[in-house]
Amino acid sequence: MTRYPQAFIYDLDGVITDTAEFHFFAWKKLAEELGIFFDRQFNEQLKGISRMDSLDRILNLDPSIPAFSLEEKEKLATRKNEYYLELIEAVDPSHILPGIEALLIENKKANLKVALGSASKNAPAILDKLGLTGYFDYIVDASKVKRGKPDPETFTTAADALGIAYWDCIGIEDAAAGIEALNKAKMFSVGVGDAAHLPHADYLVGNTSELVFEKIIEQYQKKS
Ligand code: BG6
Ligand code: MG
Repeated sequence: MTRYPQAFIYDLDGVITDTAEFHFFAWKKLAEELGIFFDRQFNEQLKGISRMDSLDRILNLDPSIPAFSLEEKEKLATRKNEYYLELIEAVDPSHILPGIEALLIENKKANLKVALGSASKNAPAILDKLGLTGYFDYIVDASKVKRGKPDPETFTTAADALGIAYWDCIGIEDAAAGIEALNKAKMFSVGVGDAAHLPHADYLVGNTSELVFEKIIEQYQKKS
């Protein structure tokens, strides 16, 4: 029997829009103010993980940095978010990545449920700025989960809210932590990026313009 998925769950940053770049710039600015320097290779580790976890990873890069109190770390995380908010001010529907709105339209035509599975506290505001909120039946952001990616909770929370079995869900992610979370949830994982960073994706595309509905379904059915 041919299986058909019931839901698509989208990551936001780096999948729906290129805010992954803005997170990178904002963290880089904060880190350099602290005398810490990191490159894009290290930044891959920050993708998909929460604001505080990202800060901890950056601070761990320099063992000579004195330990910060929780209060100080919260101030640093807030400062990074202020830099980030400045960068996303201009976000509008022209910032939707290629292929994404077409895929959302296909999802709806096929009567599938659509959810967001994001680690970002800013996710609902960004979806609004992009004019995409109306496509989403359910939104999971950082406020809805206790354990962030790579824990599967972000994605299982979305599927539970939609009332859909995990193996009937397809998730799209640009982060290794996100692919790991999807795989742990037993969902079909679609990676956007390169094989070096996302070796465990069930199906990998190089960029969002290659996210073609029929092709994704074909790959999902091959695995089922
Ligand atoms: C994820 C991004 O979606 O959200 C991370 O991939 C980011 O880079 C995380 O740190 C948390 O985002 P925010 O907006 O809550 O600081
Ligand atoms: Mg992402």
